[in-house]
Amino acid sequence: MSAFIVEGGCPLNGTVSVHGAKNSVLPILAACILTPGECVIHNCPALSDVRASIDILRHLGCRVTQQDGTLTVDAKTLSACDVPDRLMREMRSSVIFLGAILGRVGEAVMSFPGGCELGPRPIDLHLAALRALGARIEETSVGLRCRGEGLTGCELTLSIPSVGATENAMLTAVAASGTTVINNAAREPEIVDLQRFLRTLGANIRGAGSSVITIEGGVPLHGGTFTVMADRIVAATYLTAAAAAGGQVEVLGTDYRHLSTVTAVLAEAGCKVQSEQNRICLSSNAPLLGVRPVRTAPYPGFPTDAQPPLMAALCKGTGTTVFVENIFENRYRHVDELTRMGADIRVEGRVAVVCGVPQLRGARLHAADLRGGAALVVAALGAGGESVITGLEHVDRGYQDLDGGLRSLGARIRRV
Ligand code: UD1
Repeated sequence: MSAFIVEGGCPLNGTVSVHGAKNSVLPILAACILTPGECVIHNCPALSDVRASIDILRHLGCRVTQQDGTLTVDAKTLSACDVPDRLMREMRSSVIFLGAILGRVGEAVMSFPGGCELGPRPIDLHLAALRALGARIEETSVGLRCRGEGLTGCELTLSIPSVGATENAMLTAVAASGTTVINNAAREPEIVDLQRFLRTLGANIRGAGSSVITIEGGVPLHGGTFTVMADRIVAATYLTAAAAAGGQVEVLGTDYRHLSTVTAVLAEAGCKVQSEQNRICLSSNAPLLGVRPVRTAPYPGFPTDAQPPLMAALCKGTGTTVFVENIFENRYRHVDELTRMGADIRVEGRVAVVCGVPQLRGARLHAADLRGGAALVVAALGAGGESVITGLEHVDRGYQDLDGGLRSLGARIRRV
């Protein structure tokens, strides 16, 4: 079992580059299945979720090679249409393979993605979108059996702008014949990145980034070379870490517009923030102030994935901040651990009220989920004394060498 040992109270200074986005690379790897051509994907982060995706691709019969941050996927030799239960359990977002397998093979078999540490994460919208495109889906006690010969484009409306359901619908619609219009689509930057990748392969798709995505499906796809966008949540984590620990950091790689809601809150909390193109600078040299209520929402609202690290930063400071978590039910699992460090947080349902305290103290902490783990690191960097953080298997799903990145900024953190 590995752990981070963090000596808090050391300001962060310097420049750090952000690695490729987990939430972008996962659907892109699934999309590689749609083409018999070779796909070369640059800026792939070394994450356990990426490793799980590679395992799925290989199980399906794809050839995958890896050199540093570049993955080459050749799905010409695709020979299976199922995702084994073991791999479904390892990564909940493996459901994103459903639309791609169905689109390429006309048949897909997988178990249910199952429970999730963030509360129930249903896939009803994914299945409704695929059914609208002509898939016949049988839900058995063990999982899903889908058939999709003759998939046909259609107009479909998502009742919630779900990121995963939008991506699954895009992947299936690219393979379906005719026009598909996805209304109330998710507008996240990662959806735009997926569209850019599909266009690289020759797909006729437009509208990503807005609520209406239009796909002229059935166009034969070829291979292509692509570079994955930078991870905006990793960037948000570095910024909140600097806000918590104090200092002056420059975060490179992320389009500053993708994080405008996060940087606006950090500025309101008293940090000095300067942003341009792919560079965000933050300096913090005074106790953080409480801010107006932070409500998580689909993009371009405040990202749910940035809620835990921001909360961790605002635990130390003056004033009170109310958080309202509108996306996931069980997204306050970091709160008990922060409380053990001396934070004053009360949770009622979807609302958490954080009263800033003058100091947090280091403690033995356990990460229960990915962004909750990042939150504990942020809090520990701003706390007095030593913290030991376990549960790093969650952190490794979404952060490549988080401790190394923080050490390059002067943090005293090591992995043992
Ligand atoms: C993606 C991100 C995750 C992020 C989330 C919200 C990936 C791999 N993960 O997750 O990091 O926190 O977006 O920005 O990209 N829902 C349904 N039925 C469905 C699908 C979703 O009710 O069929 C609900 C969910 O329970 C949730 C909401 O819709 O309350 C949004 O979920 P969704 O956007 O689908 O998140 P994910 O794609 O799972």
